[in-house]
Amino acid sequence: MSFTDKVVTIERHIIEEEQAHPGATGQLSAILRELTLAIKIIYREVSKAGLVNILGLVGRENIHGEQVKKLDAFSDEKIFQAMDHGGHLCVMASEEHEDIIPIPPQYATGKYVLLFDPLDGSSNIDVNAPIGTIFSVYRRMTPSGPGMLEDCLQPGYKQVVAGYVVYGSSTMLVYTTGDGVHGFTLDPSIGEFLLSHENIRIPSKGKTFSINEGNSVNWTDGMRRYIEHVKKDDKASGRPYTGRYIGSMIADIHRTLLTGGIFMYPADRKSPNGKLRLLYEANPMSFIVEQAGGRASNGVTRILDIKPTALHERTPLFVGSDEDVRICEEFLAGKR
Ligand code: AHG
Ligand code: MN
Ligand code: MN
Repeated sequence: MSFTDKVVTIERHIIEEEQAHPGATGQLSAILRELTLAIKIIYREVSKAGLVNILGLVGRENIHGEQVKKLDAFSDEKIFQAMDHGGHLCVMASEEHEDIIPIPPQYATGKYVLLFDPLDGSSNIDVNAPIGTIFSVYRRMTPSGPGMLEDCLQPGYKQVVAGYVVYGSSTMLVYTTGDGVHGFTLDPSIGEFLLSHENIRIPSKGKTFSINEGNSVNWTDGMRRYIEHVKKDDKASGRPYTGRYIGSMIADIHRTLLTGGIFMYPADRKSPNGKLRLLYEANPMSFIVEQAGGRASNGVTRILDIKPTALHERTPLFVGSDEDVRICEEFLAGKR
């Protein structure tokens, strides 16, 4: 990663990425531009979330006569409204909807599929901790017309774009088109995402582990022994790993991407498939971390190789620095 001295907006960056691919039709760029607009609208709402009680808007109508919505429903709706009429998508699916979301019949359909988690870490809203939005784009499988379930159930290695936004002390958008990972920081005074982290690379080994230890009574032996391992003095640093868990996957993985280490949401006795969702959370974050030189698995298999069978399928997730994730896998397999 290097800090750049050029001033590059995300719009400019997307155009330049597109020009590097001679056959590009501009549709992916349009999708990213439309998403960026939705994200700015969500950012505006997130940044005033703490004022909602003071302004007395919850459960009442606002000045426009609209019911004030919970932030995840609001974000879900804004992404849909920004994306439904561009003519580039054939179908969408969101963590907030049980079924696939069709493109309204009055609009044209295109060759791409959009999957998203409109608001990740939503339990953190009330305590002013970082939350985020995650998106993932695929090429459609069906030939034409309205998209179907099978367009959404593709393995993660087929993603053509993945990205996330962290609404934190500053708001950052990080994305990949399969050609490196780039980060942009929102300058709210001009409403533009500016390139701040060009070509992010995750360290091959870190010093931090991130897991909800409250679930440890239900962990497998391998999981328990790996956590004991990271709490012993590390050969490289002479100190145990540091524990960090925000409880917002987006923020925990963002930190892991920039500084290295491992984020885990394992399977356990109570949740045999873990908690996180393959399509909206694990796949896009895994694509990004792999593109930055890291590793992502369900403990046994590469996340991006899993063939999904249901929209809301869950998966255990181990993601981060290549060496840390490999060692964790060895413990899980009982090899250490
Ligand atoms: P979401 O807000 O989209 O439902 O996701 C919440 C997820 C994820 O962000 C986080 O890592 C995890 O839930 C935290 O779960 P625990 O509270 O079980 O640790
Ligand atoms: Mn989520
Ligand atoms: Mn969510």
